[in-house]
Amino acid sequence: MKQDLIAMIDVGCKQLVKVARTIRRLGVYSEIYPHDSTAEFIKSRPNLRGIIVCGGDNRVVDGVSIDVNPAIYDIGVPVLTVEHKGSHANDVDAWPLEPTLILENFIDRCGADRNWNMGEFVEAQIEEIRAQVKDGRVLLALSGGVDSSVVAAILYRAIGDRLTCVHVNHGLLRKGESERVIEVFEREMGANLIYVDASERFLAALEGVEDPERKRKIIGELFIRVFEEEAKKLQGDIDFLAQGTIYPDILESGTKTEKAVKAHHNVGGLPQDVHFKLVEPLKYLFKDEVRQCGEQLGLPADMIYRQPFPGPGLGVRCLGAITRERLEITRESDAVLRDEFKKHGLDKKVWQYFTVVPDFKSVGVKNSQRTFEYPVIIRAVNTVDAMTATVEPLMFPVLAAITARILDEVPGCNRVLYDLTPKPTGTIEWE
Ligand code: XMP
Repeated sequence: MKQDLIAMIDVGCKQLVKVARTIRRLGVYSEIYPHDSTAEFIKSRPNLRGIIVCGGDNRVVDGVSIDVNPAIYDIGVPVLTVEHKGSHANDVDAWPLEPTLILENFIDRCGADRNWNMGEFVEAQIEEIRAQVKDGRVLLALSGGVDSSVVAAILYRAIGDRLTCVHVNHGLLRKGESERVIEVFEREMGANLIYVDASERFLAALEGVEDPERKRKIIGELFIRVFEEEAKKLQGDIDFLAQGTIYPDILESGTKTEKAVKAHHNVGGLPQDVHFKLVEPLKYLFKDEVRQCGEQLGLPADMIYRQPFPGPGLGVRCLGAITRERLEITRESDAVLRDEFKKHGLDKKVWQYFTVVPDFKSVGVKNSQRTFEYPVIIRAVNTVDAMTATVEPLMFPVLAAITARILDEVPGCNRVLYDLTPKPTGTIEWE
């Protein structure tokens, strides 16, 4: 089985990702390499059919103009050189000529088969995992998020019970989330799953901590520590650590011409004293392709098409110092909100939606009794890249239905508010 490859070489083109995605959309697999890649390396990529040298505004790095190794022109496959400059740098449609047409012509010139599809990709990855792991064992931190779930499914297909998944419940997950992980991966799939309920440890470590950044740091570090403890118990037995790294994680962690957007914790942030080799079967996939891959592997839709959920979970939505009472209000109100969004068909329309519980109370009245309880804040936003966001214009009857249910079903709260703030000035999360 072969999937032809068109290599893209990054010489400072801001539209690189869009070009790579367009080539894949046209049915040919593409990968992005740094400008100083050697001709030997490029030539060694399986089924290489063509090379696109992409130049642009970022061609000058730290005052020095960069270029490709000239030897890449002698590899023996067609080379297309494109250079894009100007203010529409993020818009592939702003190329001087119809870009899709240029790419289509180039694909034809290369004689590349347009056979890139998820079924073949999955089969190729399974072969690659088997070749890499041989008869070794693999460990995976399975959060239940899209990426780690798809990694679990593909690894299970490749190596079966030589995969061990560890699911750490930090007590800040949404209602029913850990149960769903156990149901899908242990009961239905039959994978080895170690479930660690570390809720109490996390709550204890977070007690009295108000500062959002400290909360994040505590949650992140304790998560790694708990996972390391489990890994150490298995060490000696296990040779590989699987990670749900995806292509944007690698690209956003900084190619050579683009400064890092943000440091992703699964790129370069590995625990120091645990010695595993890495398996990263999704590292060349974009997010929508990861979802297609999950579908191909038969994962349930609710696991693949879920809204983003931050690593620190409900911890950054239960504002200020976390208490059990407010954490439960956050979790229960979130469950009601998700249920109502689903009922109204909004779960497929709105990018991210959740509830937030602040750490102050207000006076109210319930059953003729004065109450002094917490408010629940609803947030529902749409965005393309999470850098900016707009508020979903929820219809009043929907808001009223959600409000009624939260006040009726969630103990400890007496008001519901709707956050009308776009990003900027607000961030999507409150902490
Ligand atoms: P903000 O609040 O910065 O969020 O507008 C943008 C997007 O990132 C998610 N987010 C996080 N994801 N760890 C994560 O994995 C975090 O600490 C974190 N903080 C925010 C947020 O949910 C939104 O989708």
